Amino acid sequence: MTFNALVVDHSEPRASIRTLERNDLPVHGNVLVRVDWSSINYKDAMAVTGQGKIIRSELPFVPGIDLAGTVVESDDPEFPPGSAFLSTGWGVGEVTWGGYSRYQWMSSEWLVPMPEGLDARQAMITGTAGFTAMLSLQAIREHGLAPEAGPIVVTGATGGVGSFSVMLLAAAGYEVVAVTGKSDAEAYLKALGAERIVPRSVFEEGARRPLDAGEWAGCVDSVGSRVLEAIVSQTMRHGVIAACGLAAGPELNTTVYPFILRGVRLIGIDSNTCPQPARRRAWNGLRDLADRVDFERVAHTVPLDGVPEASRRLMAGGIQGRFVVDLRNEGP
Ligand SMILES: NC(=O)c1ccc[n+]([C@@H]2O[C@H](COP(=O)([O-])OP(=O)(O)OC[C@H]3O[C@@H](n4cnc5c(N)ncnc54)[C@H](OP(=O)(O)O)[C@@H]3O)[C@@H](O)[C@H]2O)c1
Repeated sequence: MTFNALVVDHSEPRASIRTLERNDLPVHGNVLVRVDWSSINYKDAMAVTGQGKIIRSELPFVPGIDLAGTVVESDDPEFPPGSAFLSTGWGVGEVTWGGYSRYQWMSSEWLVPMPEGLDARQAMITGTAGFTAMLSLQAIREHGLAPEAGPIVVTGATGGVGSFSVMLLAAAGYEVVAVTGKSDAEAYLKALGAERIVPRSVFEEGARRPLDAGEWAGCVDSVGSRVLEAIVSQTMRHGVIAACGLAAGPELNTTVYPFILRGVRLIGIDSNTCPQPARRRAWNGLRDLADRVDFERVAHTVPLDGVPEASRRLMAGGIQGRFVVDLRNEGP
């Protein structure tokens, strides 16, 4: 049996389609899977383009953090052959070979059974970005913030994490205020469920003072740096901020005043090593919202050989939503 994979190597071009055999796959798990769909996250685009060191393994290497499909061989009774699975994170596509291959070896500890009501394409449109958005929504809920508490601000709103955050928060009944650097994104963001759009430039100077007027009950932030600094200072009493990204930079200069005088909670989100119980709770939560979420609105479908070009476009910015990768024709 032969099949296709997108392989990164010390070659020019850096990433190219190769025909592989089963024996070419490093065996780093107890489950052989057939991949139907994958996706392109920011980290995947870094791995494919070589902008930024994200691959922590020898080349040749197969990137792809997210994958969904069917189990082919397995010694784990929870994932018998024929069962539908999804996987995100755990260093797959960074340390071990990932989803840009029609077949791959995985550890069953990384797999989530596909929730009934979701299919592999929807799961990969969601992918790490949507999963991170769902973890953020759960953090907001679990820290006691109901929709009546007030507006939730979403930064980097047209990105993968941002688009899903807008959709999921709106589907869960929250008033969503979307922050974007794109002047032409209003129609897109309103269609996802945002009630108001605020230009990113409003926040880019950082906090005006340690405690500014409280405007936001909560926040899902995928941007960090000055934008997050401003939002921390403008969060209402007992507000909840889910910090999940660093699109603008990793630094955060703030004071403790919002935390000790307003009880603001800054919650870190890590999708990569999120433990299985919380992981499954999030995917089931996503499934429960699925009939109120328009997955296709944020999806751009690319074939496996379209991943390098799509990765360059993602790295250059200007993309709204998520790239989903179709591997169904890359092998039997
Ligand atoms: N914690 C986790 O587990 C986790 C999981 C996934 C991703 N992340 C991180 O979350 C961030 C977003 O990931 P993503 O997949 O959503 O990426 P993405 O699709 O590239 O979206 C990032 C968005 O951030 C905004 N942005 C870009 N450059 C910016 C800048 N210089 N200053 C301010 N905003 C900027 C843009 O939105 P607008 O034009 O609409 O402003 C862009 O669409 C990344 O830092 C990623 O590493 C973390």
